[in-house]
Amino acid sequence: MWHPPERIKHDLLPPRWPTADEAAAARWFSPLDSGRLRLRERTWVPAMVPWRATEDGLVTPEVLDWYARFAEGRPGAIVVEATGVRDIPSGPLLRVGHDRFIPGLTQLVDVVRRASEGQTRLFLQIIDFLAIRRRPDKTKYFERYLTLTDDHRAWVGPARSDAEVRQALLAMSDAEHEAVLTSCELEALRVGYRERVTDVDLPHVEELPRVLPEIFAAASARAEQAGFDGVELHYAHAYTMASFLSARNDRGDGYGGDRASRARLPLEVYRAVRARVTDPFVVGCRYLADECIDGGNGVDDAIHFGVAFAEAGFDFLSLSRGGKFEDAKPPEVGWAVYPYTGPSGWECMPTVLADRQGPFGRNVPPSGRIRRAVRAAGLATPIVVAGGIHAFDQAEAILQRGDADLVAAARQSLADPDWFRKIRAGSGDEVRRCVFTNYCEGLDQKHRPVSCKLWDRVGLDVPGLSLVDDGKRRLTAPRWEPR
Ligand SMILES: Cc1cc2nc3c(=O)[nH]c(=O)nc-3n(C[C@H](O)[C@H](O)[C@H](O)COP(=O)(O)O)c2cc1C
Ligand code: SF4
Repeated sequence: MWHPPERIKHDLLPPRWPTADEAAAARWFSPLDSGRLRLRERTWVPAMVPWRATEDGLVTPEVLDWYARFAEGRPGAIVVEATGVRDIPSGPLLRVGHDRFIPGLTQLVDVVRRASEGQTRLFLQIIDFLAIRRRPDKTKYFERYLTLTDDHRAWVGPARSDAEVRQALLAMSDAEHEAVLTSCELEALRVGYRERVTDVDLPHVEELPRVLPEIFAAASARAEQAGFDGVELHYAHAYTMASFLSARNDRGDGYGGDRASRARLPLEVYRAVRARVTDPFVVGCRYLADECIDGGNGVDDAIHFGVAFAEAGFDFLSLSRGGKFEDAKPPEVGWAVYPYTGPSGWECMPTVLADRQGPFGRNVPPSGRIRRAVRAAGLATPIVVAGGIHAFDQAEAILQRGDADLVAAARQSLADPDWFRKIRAGSGDEVRRCVFTNYCEGLDQKHRPVSCKLWDRVGLDVPGLSLVDDGKRRLTAPRWEPR
């Protein structure tokens, strides 16, 4: 895991918890009523992939338990994990690319309605991603995967068989590989092959602007059929739509280059989705307040997109930061690159080992700037902020200052899915506080079922408990028995 070089260890924010009366009067626990988005309170659990779907992308009993557990805390909204819009194999990630996924997703909606007694609104985060391959073994790469070109043959020398060229390339030093291979070939060798939205020589990448609006629209219609209150279009982190928005996108077909061209496909997808769902259905998006990579979008880009998205009619804008492939650590052989291993990944899910600014609420000042620009454009679109938020006073101050309209907490809600209930009840001193050392994110990286180190070994002998790792970890947090 990457950490800022300063490696300053930060303490959690002071645990001052409100009385039940103070919580009842707090802005965080007050309703939000803005256009189509109506929430009982301004607490929000953002998307977290728990690696509990089947290999075919279907909802499992473990998926249902995971969301039921968050729903018991009755946040204003829960966003269900990134769910693939296409009907293609993508490992144990949820999918919504075909009608056969609707029954499982319907069950998921029912479970959340029941567990929250109808208090929590439920949104499905929908995602498209491009192909990515595991880092290959060097010998296999040169013997099998590399497509030989005349350039390779010229380096090795004339009149040699393909097998000899491959063996000669394999025997070269790292420095020689840097001279002989193209940057794409070198990346495929050292990190693993990865498609980009700028690979317009690939027909299926070139045609993305023509096919994605319909794919997202059909997925959203299925989400509505399953009973979700809305969708969150995933325009953040390392995936297709964020890559269209990125300042690194230099496609020359009107879908890259300046900001307006980079926002074109995200806006066309939005319009296709809006046209396909009924009027009350909520359509929001998650995008980056800052890509946190060299040559990527900064806050000024995000302000431009925020105003454009709000003008287009999005029902909410949820802000994340970082989480990019560009600065990720090369994976071990046999693993795929993971976009949360470099500096931008740390910005997305910061840990207590930080720089001077610290890990808590780094996305809040950018969120404030984006919200103020949206308001200055005369638009009331609610803004959701996340990143290191774990304390009542912190959340309340964000809302009081007008830096956001909704305050989201991912890891703190994973550490204690009851924490909103506890605060409302005046029992904040019982909150199990996230320690922000990213054990959960390490499991995510290995595509292992995600759990929290503060509770996954507690009470393993409870009859009927779902466990993983040969009975070593529980999959949901222990029940809270109010005092
Ligand atoms: C295990 C795990 C899985 C995540 N999966 C997603 C995801 O599917 N979609 C998404 O937009 N963000 C995802 N995130 C990022 C969180 O939504 C959130 O933005 C990030 O953790 C920072 O917020 P926090 O400090 O409150 O945890 C994930 C985070 C974790 C820890
Ligand atoms: S595993 Fe660590 S970082 Fe993740 S939720 Fe638990 S305490 Fe927080």
